Amino acid sequence: METILLLHGPNLNMLGKREPAVYGRQTLDEIVASARALASELGVEIASYQSNVEGDLVTRIQQAANQYDAIVFNPGAYTHTSIALRDAVLAAGLPVIEVHLSNVHKREKFRRHSFLADVVEGQVIGFGAESYLLGLRAAVTILRNRRPVPPRARPARKRSTR
Ligand code: DQA
Repeated sequence: METILLLHGPNLNMLGKREPAVYGRQTLDEIVASARALASELGVEIASYQSNVEGDLVTRIQQAANQYDAIVFNPGAYTHTSIALRDAVLAAGLPVIEVHLSNVHKREKFRRHSFLADVVEGQVIGFGAESYLLGLRAAVTILRNRRPVPPRARPARKRSTR
């Protein structure tokens, strides 16, 4: 069974209380509970980790390379500042889906740039808590499409004409 890490950056532990007009009223625990329900429907396992510390997130991404098949990652404000997280994603070599609750393109100019955008598989932005669920679905689709084609399903080899 595929295992997927949901990784959350700084201030996402404050969801529910933090700027509800921007981020909604669901807590991180509630979002993770919905992701867990979806994961069981999709037949995958998830784990979740939040940190306010950039270095912790780097370490988690490094460890994830041996423990998980993909990461659904909301780097929070580090999205716009962190070359260290970008490097960690590149080094891990896992498919990473970047997610954001808010539509960062509708907000302050400094939120429009993501240091991760061009090293992740894709981004899901602006759908509130649903961004995590869409990100999880995308991760599962990517993993299942990458599975090697079983030998029987491969087209027959062309016979040599020699
Ligand atoms: C965020 C957007 C970031 O700009 C912000 O710093 C966050 C949350 C989002 O999910 O919309 O902390 O990543």
